[in-house]
Parts: sequence; structure tokens; C-alpha cells
Amino acid sequence: MCGIVCYVGKKQAKPILLDGLKQLEYRGYDSAGVAVQQGSDIDCYRSVGKIAELERKLNGLEINGTTGIAHTRWATHGEPTEENAHPHSDQDENVFVIHNGIIENYHMLKKKLEKQGIKFRSETDTEVLAQLIGLNYEGSLNEAVRKTMSQVEGTFGVAVIHKDVPDEIVIARRGSPLIIGVSEDGHFAASDVSAMVRYTNKVVHLEENELATLTADGFSMSTAQAKPIERSMETVEWRIEDAELDGFPHFMLKEIYEQPETIKNALRGRLEPGEGVPKLGGIMPVWDTLKECRHLVIVACGTSYYAGCVGRYLFEKLTEIDVEVELASEFRYRKLNFPPNTFILALSQSGETADTLAALREAKRKGASLLGVVNVVGSSISRETEAGVYNHAGPEIGVASTKIFTSQLAILTLMALLLGRHQNLSLTEGVEAIRALQALPDQIKTVLSQANHIEAVAEQYYKCGNWLFLGRKYNYPIALEGALKLKEISYIHAEGYPAGEMKHGPIALINPDMPTVAVVPRDDMYEKMISNIQEIKSRRGPVIAIATQGDEKIREIADEVIEIPETLQYLNPILSVVPCQLLAYYCASFLGRDIDKPRNLAKSVTVE
Ligand code: F6R
Repeated sequence: MCGIVCYVGKKQAKPILLDGLKQLEYRGYDSAGVAVQQGSDIDCYRSVGKIAELERKLNGLEINGTTGIAHTRWATHGEPTEENAHPHSDQDENVFVIHNGIIENYHMLKKKLEKQGIKFRSETDTEVLAQLIGLNYEGSLNEAVRKTMSQVEGTFGVAVIHKDVPDEIVIARRGSPLIIGVSEDGHFAASDVSAMVRYTNKVVHLEENELATLTADGFSMSTAQAKPIERSMETVEWRIEDAELDGFPHFMLKEIYEQPETIKNALRGRLEPGEGVPKLGGIMPVWDTLKECRHLVIVACGTSYYAGCVGRYLFEKLTEIDVEVELASEFRYRKLNFPPNTFILALSQSGETADTLAALREAKRKGASLLGVVNVVGSSISRETEAGVYNHAGPEIGVASTKIFTSQLAILTLMALLLGRHQNLSLTEGVEAIRALQALPDQIKTVLSQANHIEAVAEQYYKCGNWLFLGRKYNYPIALEGALKLKEISYIHAEGYPAGEMKHGPIALINPDMPTVAVVPRDDMYEKMISNIQEIKSRRGPVIAIATQGDEKIREIADEVIEIPETLQYLNPILSVVPCQLLAYYCASFLGRDIDKPRNLAKSVTVE
């Protein structure tokens, strides 16, 4: 979604800002812009489309200045046009503003300002912010932004410069993340560390309803009530190399291939094979209450939600805990009763998904305790939960989530195992689980070694306009995830179904042009899945089976077989999802899609 990067320091701002914008491209956007300040001159340029478009526009222009703000916009209010791209200015072009989030009362404010004779140039809610800051400015930019914060409703991460205050950037946050970067050559602000990690890994997080003023030599932070804040600096572990392609044609493929490593990272230092009990330091602060937990609600969106759906089966298998899984975007409409000692577990790669954050806040209001499994260290969800576990999987750049899904499943297994061992799970079962987890990285490599075969399968079927994905029990969420992966990056219509539901409707769709991907490892659902596959075959539907290595029976029935190594039944999803990811990737590749930045999608969904 929208991205912010700002710099004030000793170096020229333009190249730093353009580089920062490129690092933010993965979030998804449809237009971009930059404003660079030198003394009281501010040069502002905007363009629709890729950053390369903006770069072309700036090519050959003398744009000097060591202070600047830059933005990638993902349209919410108003189409993706140059007029609607950020930065926006007030009518006198004194103030320039970039903004992530949504100003909910913008319509009312706009009408009021128009009555005062203020002329608007765009359809955006952000321009209201710029006009208000311009009107509120009486010599202190910080004060003008603070006053504006009290007039607007909704969410924002904003960065503001003013002609009269050279070499100063004011930023403010409510509901949309902003991070300050500290380096010897100046200060940065960004919505995402990847925009500045090339220059610094020293960061300070701005919290809700806080402002900061940045200059070349320092920065000061305060609350919306002007109370000064001191906060210690943190060091981020991501490196710029993590955000580079490393010879892969797309980040998505790179991230699929990183899975043996990201599973190792999820397990590193957390396994105690002898005891069959994992160690999860991150949840120890709440262990005394968590170990008595009998009711867990997992909340998440999209792919993270499907990981949560596997999580429900994992907790039910390994613990005595009742588990519900809720789409975060629907959570607030449910009338959920939380028995005493209910924990809410949020799953989120970005840690910034607005719906997941809103669900957590609602659950907190109702008295539940909050846990998180998050990849981005220091993100809003990691800060608003009482305890949790980090994925430590490095940045996920491809918009379609892959490596975080399998990492989430590994961590959910560890959490369930830890709680289960505290309850009724035997030492033997604990040790067996840990051994099976340790084997997963090499087993994923075995699945990846079939990439050429999977590519050939994709080549045969990518022209089919409708696909079905089927699974049962642990692999039902994999059918959902497989269908989501295919539709989001290839734009092929796909549906995921629990195989048992076939006869209740979807079987009417089966025909020779509609492939079915059947996730059919050798588990206690196997025979039932085989019957479902037979039903499809008798209606001449092509079947691509994801099956356990050495399964000869399935070869006689299915048109194509992709093998996964044998593991414990409840760990099958960590292996069976990998062929689904590769199938989606290769179909999208044959169709010539923009795989890392599929249309209309954003990496971090910071609006509800
Ligand atoms: C799909 C995908 C999305 C995200 C969803 C939640 O490939 O990536 O469905 O899973 O937007 O995002 P996080 O995990 O950042 O909360």
C-alpha cells in the first residue's frame, strides 16, 4: 500500500528518495511523487505508474536540496492520476504533505474549507490535510501539524515540509506506521524499514498519536499533547541484500526457494529434542496464564488466515484447547463470548494489517489477552500484543505471501506442541514432532527439486480459465491457499473447497477444461480423497494430485502427480503448499503477469 520515505541531512535528497521509493515498490502502488527542498524552494514532481516513470521525469533536471519527502500512492480516494498523487500542497504552495491512511471526516472538512474560499486541486483526502496545516501554520510547523491532528478523524502517517522552515521535516502517526532512521549523514523517516535499510539499521519507532521533528543533526519526539518523549534506538536485522533478487527472476520465486532456510530460522534455538518441548522465549512473559488457556481465537487475513485454519487443526491435534479461527475483517461483527483466560493470537507477516490490528483492539476491549506471530520486528501488531513469536524470515517482498505461510505453520506447530506437552501430549509424541520438524527443510528441498516437472504441468494447464483445489482436514486450508495463490498472481479464477463439499454443488462445474488440484497425501483422509478424485475423473475432469512419494495408486487415477516426502500427517501442509505456490508462479509466468506486483494488490494492507 502507500509508502513514505523522507530524508533530511548532509547528502543530496533526490537519489536517496528515489532509491527509497524503489525499495517500497513491493508494497503495491499506482503513482508516486517527490518534493525536494532547498532553502525556501520546494520542487515537487509526481507521476502515474511505476517509479521508473517518475525517474524519467526527473532525468536531466537540476534538483538540489538535502531535505525531501517522497511517496508511493495506492489509490483510495480518487483515481490514480497525477493530480491525486502525493505530495499535496496547500493552496499557496507553502506546505507539502505525503500521507498514508484515510482521513474519515475529509468530506465535511473539505466542504467547510471550500466555503472559506479554499480551492482544491485533487479528489484526495490528503489535500485536506495540506490545506489545514497551511492554515494552522503560525511560525511552528510542529504546532501546525499537532493542531491539524486534533481536527482530523481517521488514520494517518504523515510527513510535512514548509517553505519557511528549511531543513526540517515533521512527521506524525495515528494508525499508520512511521519509523525514524538515524545515521551520521542525517535522519530518515519511512513507513517501512526497507526504504532506509541501505543507509541505516538504527531506528526509533513512532507510536500512536505521536509527532517528531527531524533535522540533519537530530530529532525530537512528542505526544499529541506536546509532552516530550525519549525512546531508545533499536537495531533492525534486515540487510539490503535481503531485498535483492540474487539471480532469481522474481522475489516470489526467490522466497519460495528460501523456505528451507526460513523454516530453519523459525525453528532455530527453539527445539529441545530430548524433552520434546519447544522453547519459545517470546511467549514466556505470559506463560503463567497461557499454560492454563483453554480457549484460543486466531485472527488474521488472507494467506495468514489460511495458516490460522491449519493452526486450528494443529491445536486440536496437539492440545486440549478449543480453537476458533476468525477472519480479522469479520471479527468485529461477531458476538463472541470469551470465557475467562481466552487468548487471541494474531498472525501477520507485515504486522500492520489494519483489520487484524482492529480485531486485536476489539478483543482487548473485551478482556482477552493478546499474542502475535509476526515477521516484521517492531511492527504495530508486535507492539500491541502482550507476547509473541517472530518469524525471523527476512523481508517478504513478493506481494503473494509464500515463505511466511510455511514459517507461520512451523511456529504454530511449536506453540501447539509447547502447550500440548504441558497438557496431555506424551514425551514420545513430543520427540516425534520435533524430529519431523527438523526434517522439513530438506524435505522442502526435495519438493523444490521437482520445479521443472511442476513448470511442465503449469504449461499444460495455464490456459484453463477455471481451476478447483480440493483437500480435507489439514489440507483443506491448503486447497484454499492454493486457489488464492493462483488467482492473485495469474488472475485465473480458482476456488478452494473441502473435498467433502464437492457433491453439494461444485461438482456441477467439472468438465475437461477445468483442472482440479487434489491435495491427497497418504493420511487418514486418503481413501475419501481418492473417491472424490474418482468422481471428478468420471466426469472427465483433469486431476493434478499432490501426493506422498511412492504412491503408485494415485498414478493410476490422476493425470499428473507431484510428490511430497512422507511426514507426520499434521505437518503435511508445510510440504503440500509448496507445489501449489510453484504451480501458481509458473502459470502466472506463462501468462506474462507482473508476478511480484499483481494488479490492484498491496503488500501491507493498512486500510480497513
Ligand atoms: C496473499 C497475501 C495476503 C496477506 C494478507 C495479510 O498472498 O499475501 O492475503 O496474507 O493481506 O497480510 P499480513 O500477513 O501482513 O497481515
